[in-house]
Amino acid sequence: MKKNWFKEKTKKFSLIGGYQKPELNQNALKLDSNENYVISKQFQNDVITSARKNSDVREYPLGGVERLIKMISKFVKIPSSMIGVGNGSDQILDLILSNFASKQTKVLTSNPTFGFFEERCKLYSIPLITIPFSNDMKLDIKDFVKKSKNADILYLDSPNNPTGFQFSKNELQKLVKSFNGLVIIDEAYGEFSDYSLLSMVKTQENLIVVQTLSKSFGLAGLRLGYFIANKKFTEAFMNILQYPYPLSTITIESGILALEKSNLMKDAVTNIKFERKRIIENLRKYDAFQVFDSKANFVLFDAHGIYKRVYSALAEQGISIRKLGKIGNHEGCLRVTIGTKEMNSKFLLAIRDLLG
Ligand SMILES: Cc1ncc(COP(=O)(O)O)c(C=O)c1O
Repeated sequence: MKKNWFKEKTKKFSLIGGYQKPELNQNALKLDSNENYVISKQFQNDVITSARKNSDVREYPLGGVERLIKMISKFVKIPSSMIGVGNGSDQILDLILSNFASKQTKVLTSNPTFGFFEERCKLYSIPLITIPFSNDMKLDIKDFVKKSKNADILYLDSPNNPTGFQFSKNELQKLVKSFNGLVIIDEAYGEFSDYSLLSMVKTQENLIVVQTLSKSFGLAGLRLGYFIANKKFTEAFMNILQYPYPLSTITIESGILALEKSNLMKDAVTNIKFERKRIIENLRKYDAFQVFDSKANFVLFDAHGIYKRVYSALAEQGISIRKLGKIGNHEGCLRVTIGTKEMNSKFLLAIRDLLG
């Protein structure tokens, strides 16, 4: 080893951009991180309060993960032996990449794809083969089939962040079946969409479906993700790759309680889907915008030359959305999360004040 190896390696890391978190705007109407404010604060309070009562954080959470997995198993109707958990789905994706991929493994995905995933591939020098979105922010399955032969891993966020696009179930099923390597389907926004590939895991040995309580359950701060995959992979992941205690006691107990109340999540999702339609229809009234369809809890639109102005005008009114800028041929992309009815109305009103 060279004498300066530590310094040089640190410098190498500092040259990687890293995942870009949204700006921290205190007291802003937060429509920038695909969080879920429709799920009530009461739900959160109930879950955390009872979790606190059931917890003794002087102890390691021995056996806690197993109880949580049993609850997830009931929720997704898949045996416990096929379910693993992580500190957010971020950590699950990270552990898969760091242990199953390398400079020699090519990952096929879309461009854009989930930013964290892309950054992690950069960190580990994992080469990406990317398929761009078309001008109407759609993907062509044929492009993926064509490139499949050169790839070892297929990663798709379904629906995609930040476009909101999702393949038809039939198309995606065909692609997964035809792919020889490892397939990771990230369903962080699955509940807001039309389908899940979950049940395919029973017959498809090379498929890992990743889900989370961050979005539909509105529990992003808990950091609780899970995956469904074949038994052998799940065993290896949970016993060898995963940390001995990946989740805090409070996260485990809160997760169990949240899953018991999954009906509330379903109501919130119905509400968000309804509001998503309202936002899309309203934004489409402005010629200045091109608004893309979405199957997730956010909407992407191109505000062309005025996107910076729109972003700043909203920020001045305390409304924070995500400024993405150029995506393919679209110069001025902005992404807005679907909030509560009131939040969405404030957002639409601010847009009307600016452009109407
Ligand atoms: C596609 C996608 N996958 C995973 C995640 C991360 O979810 P978690 O909070 O479970 O780490 C996000 C969060 O924005 C996402 O957009």
